[in-house]
Amino acid sequence: MHPMLNIAIRAARVAGGLIQRSSDNVKQLSISKKSKNDFVTEVDLAVEQEIINIIKSSYPDHAILAEESGETPGNNYTWVIDPLDGTTNFLHGYPQYAVSIALKNKGKTEIGVIYDPLRDELFTAEKGAGATLNNRRIRVSNQVQLDTALLGTGFPFKYPQHLDAYLEIFKDLTLKTAGIRRAGSAALDLAYLATGRLDGFWEIGLKEWDFAAGVLLVQEAGGVTTDFSFNNNYSQSGNIIAGNTKMHQAIYKIIEQHITDSLK
Ligand code: IPD
Ligand code: CA
Ligand code: CA
Repeated sequence: MHPMLNIAIRAARVAGGLIQRSSDNVKQLSISKKSKNDFVTEVDLAVEQEIINIIKSSYPDHAILAEESGETPGNNYTWVIDPLDGTTNFLHGYPQYAVSIALKNKGKTEIGVIYDPLRDELFTAEKGAGATLNNRRIRVSNQVQLDTALLGTGFPFKYPQHLDAYLEIFKDLTLKTAGIRRAGSAALDLAYLATGRLDGFWEIGLKEWDFAAGVLLVQEAGGVTTDFSFNNNYSQSGNIIAGNTKMHQAIYKIIEQHITDSLK
C-alpha cells in the first residue's frame, strides 16, 4: 500500500474516533455560524487539527487545504481535508456524516479516503489501483435505465439564485427515476455511488474538500464525473454529475435542458 494512503487512513480513523466520542454530548458543543445554514462546531475544528497534526508529523513539507483552517502552503503535494462532512446531520444526531481526506500531487488527486465512523466503513481509492470498501474492491452499479435508478443529490441551500433551475432538474429526475435521496453528506453520496448503492449523483456548488476524495473513489470504481458542461472544471464551479457512463449521460441530458449560463 502507498505509504501516504496509510497515513490518510490512520488520520481518518483517529478523526472518526474523535467525532464518535463527541457525538454523545452534541447538545453541549459550542457552535458558530459561518453563513446561513452553515455551521461549524468545536468538533470540526478539533478533528481538523488532529488530522493535520498526523499528516504534518509524517509529511511536514506538504501543503494543506482544509475546510476550517484554509490553505497552508507547501511542496507539490496538497492534502484536501473535510474533517466532518455532514455537520448539520451530526448536530441533529442524524446518522450520516464522514471524514474525507484526499491527496493531490501537482493538482491531480492520487489518494482518497472517506471514513464513516458510525458504520465503521472505510472507503479508499488510489489513482490507477482501484477503490475499496473495508478492503474489498468496489465498482459503480451497472444500472442502465433511469427509471430503475436511485440517485443522490444535495440541495443548493447556500445558492438561492440556483434554486429554480435546481428544482426544475429535481422535478424532471423525480418523474424519471426510481427515487432521489438527499442524505446530507456529499462525501458519502459519492462513496455510495462508488459502491453501487446509488446509481447517480448531482449537486451544485460543492467545495473541493467535499468532493476531492469522492471523485477519485467514483473514477477508480469505474464511474464518470464531470461538471454541468461535460468538462472537468468542477474545482471552479463545484457543480458535479457522477455515475456509471450510461447514468452520467442520462443525468447530464436532463440537467442540460434546465441549466442557466451561470451553472455551465
Ligand atoms: C456539506 C455536505 C452536504 C452538501 C453541502 C456541504 P459540510 O458539507 O456535504 O451534503 O449538500 O453542500 O457543504 O458543511 O457538512 O462539511
Ligand atoms: Ca463538506
Ligand atoms: Ca465539513
